[in-house]
Amino acid sequence: MIQVLFVCLGNICRSPMAEAVFRDLIEKENLTNKISVDSAGTANWHTGKPPHHGTREKLDEMDISYEGIRARQVHEQDWQVFGYIIAMDDQNMDDLTITDDKKRNVHVAKLTDFVHSKDVDHVPDPYYTGNFDYTYDLVLEGCQNLLQTIRKKHQILM
Ligand code: 4NP
Repeated sequence: MIQVLFVCLGNICRSPMAEAVFRDLIEKENLTNKISVDSAGTANWHTGKPPHHGTREKLDEMDISYEGIRARQVHEQDWQVFGYIIAMDDQNMDDLTITDDKKRNVHVAKLTDFVHSKDVDHVPDPYYTGNFDYTYDLVLEGCQNLLQTIRKKHQILM
């Protein structure tokens, strides 16, 4: 199983949106037997909570399910479980304390590394900006290109 973990700060706005969007893509491409997805926050403030209402509202608008998604904090064991850990910004990357040892087994990247249509180096936090539409645009393109990259790397043919 190829396991993907999206990471943000609170795990209620950006990374659960990415989890829901990526889950929707892998379901539509019939890849749930090969790829799984989860999300987590570097902070523990919202543990057990469903996504922020702004994230839920946008996902409802796009008819994408967020059923069962609850916030949790990243833990050290995640580095043994996930093959891909995808952060939203440089603060997340810092907070993940990525060592050479961790990088040996896990592909670590920012979601915006997979966004080519815009000149962006992070997903701005809609908890502060209020702009969940823009978050969704970045998340969707990032998730689509990430999935394509994973498919190519693991030779999962269309
Ligand atoms: P997220 O956004 O990292 O995209 O989930 C935030 C959610 C909550 C807080 C900050 C950012 N907070 O301060 O509670």
